[in-house]
Amino acid sequence: WWNHVGHAPKDPIMSVTEAFLSDTSPNKINLGVGAYRDDDGRPVVLQCVRDGEAKIAGTGFLESVSASVSSKLVEESVKLIYGKDADFIKEGRFAGVQALSGTGACRLFAEFQRRFYPQSKIYLPIPTWSNHHNIWRDAQVPGRTFHYYHPDSKGLHFAALMDDIKNAPDRSFFLLHPCAHNPTGVDPTEEQWRDISNLFKVKNHFPFFDMAYQGFASGDLDKDAKAMRIFLEDGHLIGCAQSFAKNMGLYGHRVGCLSVLCADAKQAVAIKSQLQHITRAMYSSPPVHGILLVSTILSDPHLKELWKKELKVMANRIHRMRSTLRESLKKLGSPLNWDHMTNQVGMFCFSGLSPDQVNRLMKEFHIYMTYDGRMSMAGVTTSNVSYLANAIHEVTKF
Ligand code: LMR
Repeated sequence: WWNHVGHAPKDPIMSVTEAFLSDTSPNKINLGVGAYRDDDGRPVVLQCVRDGEAKIAGTGFLESVSASVSSKLVEESVKLIYGKDADFIKEGRFAGVQALSGTGACRLFAEFQRRFYPQSKIYLPIPTWSNHHNIWRDAQVPGRTFHYYHPDSKGLHFAALMDDIKNAPDRSFFLLHPCAHNPTGVDPTEEQWRDISNLFKVKNHFPFFDMAYQGFASGDLDKDAKAMRIFLEDGHLIGCAQSFAKNMGLYGHRVGCLSVLCADAKQAVAIKSQLQHITRAMYSSPPVHGILLVSTILSDPHLKELWKKELKVMANRIHRMRSTLRESLKKLGSPLNWDHMTNQVGMFCFSGLSPDQVNRLMKEFHIYMTYDGRMSMAGVTTSNVSYLANAIHEVTKF
């Protein structure tokens, strides 16, 4: 038995964490995984989470997720992206289920896609979060790519993106990042989202949004949902994977939501039953604690306000670190233009560093990031930013 089983390929993101953990240098910096850290480099438990936990303590929630807890989570999650007054919510024109964070929601949707559109493919931006490729591949949905990022401008390759959307066969499935694109930190402008949405209408494409970082781009939940609201206004049926890992700091709790907008309530009932049918065979139901916690925070006005404030604090700290790093490189006399550090948004900076330079940062300076040059800005702090700037300058000066 098992002699034929070789080692699986290393995950490009998780392997960075492993390498970082095994480094004993006191100077080491982890800019790998997208997980928020405070200015002392420590993981954060938000006060709204502590207060929410106190509120649910002792409520006897050890049974698996009940229908009422589940629908509360789904309804509050959907309001968060589309706004609380969206008509389709009142009309019950959506199917939603709680999911194992964003990854679980994507995986469920990929499975659903294969079952009901077995010939379809998924169009993924180049680049995208590396796990998107794995998720749709494992669900046996062939992947295709579309242009997104321009390495020269370190911004959006809008013309090529529009061409690819136009040239894809009508009624294709596209995965879009509504804000804080991972790994590039490059988002379309509002105007560009409107053009994309219009073209999707013409082509009858299906937009599937992976909303993993709501609040991290602008610090404001509504602003970060603008793209989705444009698509909603334009009358699209939309799929969305939502994660509360980053914006509530609940990484290990695996709380998320998958929602699919439908033409009418009857369709919604059928689709929800199919999604439940898929989860039942995969893992029956997710752990209840995190779901209860998130639905409690989202439905308690005081906790929700507190959450919004704390989210802003996280987003602002990352923003400050972007400017500080850029300024530090300038002061060091870097011959390169680092404006993209502050033009890009969200948790990541797609630095433009080459794999060789990334390797040197790791070997010579104990600074860890993925080989595509993506830096998780959450790992940058007031006390390590000048060490980091010096190191980047060392490996990039001619
Ligand atoms: C990341 O891109 O670093 C995060 O989404 C964490 C993960 O699971 O990859």
